[in-house]
Amino acid sequence: MNNDNELVRMDHINKFFGRVQALNDVTFTVQKNEIVGLLGDNGAGKSTLIKILSGALTADSGDIYMHGKKADIRNTTDAISYGIETIYQDSALVPQLSIARNLFLGREPVKEPAFLNRMDQGKMNEVARNLLKQVGITKEIPPTTPISALSGGERQAVAIARALYFESDLIILDEPTNNLGVEETQGVLRFVRNARDAGHSCIFIAHNIHHVFRVVDRIVVLRRGKKVADNIDPKKTTIEAVENIITGMGDAVPADASH
Ligand SMILES: Nc1ncnc2c1ncn2[C@@H]1O[C@H](COP(=O)(O)OP(=O)(O)OP(=O)(O)O)[C@@H](O)[C@H]1O
Ligand SMILES: [Mg+2]
Repeated sequence: MNNDNELVRMDHINKFFGRVQALNDVTFTVQKNEIVGLLGDNGAGKSTLIKILSGALTADSGDIYMHGKKADIRNTTDAISYGIETIYQDSALVPQLSIARNLFLGREPVKEPAFLNRMDQGKMNEVARNLLKQVGITKEIPPTTPISALSGGERQAVAIARALYFESDLIILDEPTNNLGVEETQGVLRFVRNARDAGHSCIFIAHNIHHVFRVVDRIVVLRRGKKVADNIDPKKTTIEAVENIITGMGDAVPADASH
């Protein structure tokens, strides 16, 4: 089953919250250079699945493979070391620290001589300034600005810039366009579309199915914790057909059809 092109394999994942089974035997894969849209209604298990991959939650059973090798992801630091970066609307940024500091959180460059362990503030600011331009922040925002002074979309851009700079293999975006303005939303969509060319893979979760259709290579659908579709090509189907799969209307049988 494994192939050389496979970046991630989440294999037979189960997760319970008390008596609620959030994930029921879900197998989910992402290829190298692939943008996967993960769809499903509220409570379908999307966030739970990607939180297991990003180390925020652990599965009750099932395995994760990265590049075909078993991966031991127990926390977000482990996930980052496997090249997995996750971006949420209220991403893992520290509001009171500057843009530059947030970009390097835990990976700050050190000034020579290294044993003094002084952060290289100048280098961080310079890298930050360039990255902000790359992710489409055209407004002149000094890299020393605290995150708390930014809009939702600008915060998103900082999180995206961090994933770009550290060349993460896999970038997970969970509802990244929620509460964003039109222009900011376009920026996120543009980023996802470009991610493939830049050598990244992405998992993109969004309630706006139009956004998903515009940027992904393949759509996977979860319904009440189970995977119900794995290989939908957005170029070969309609939004309505996928909506029917999400809600379960697509496989509804007439009451007397079973007789
Ligand atoms: N920390 C938690 N404690 C208890 N139950 C949880 C927890 N997190 C999720 N659940 C439950 O697990 C199920 C799946 O939730 P999850 O957040 O993964 O859904 P989702 O597909 O991301 O939904 P949404 O589209 O609303 O974000 C739901 O029934 C939810 O109530
Ligand atoms: Mg969710």
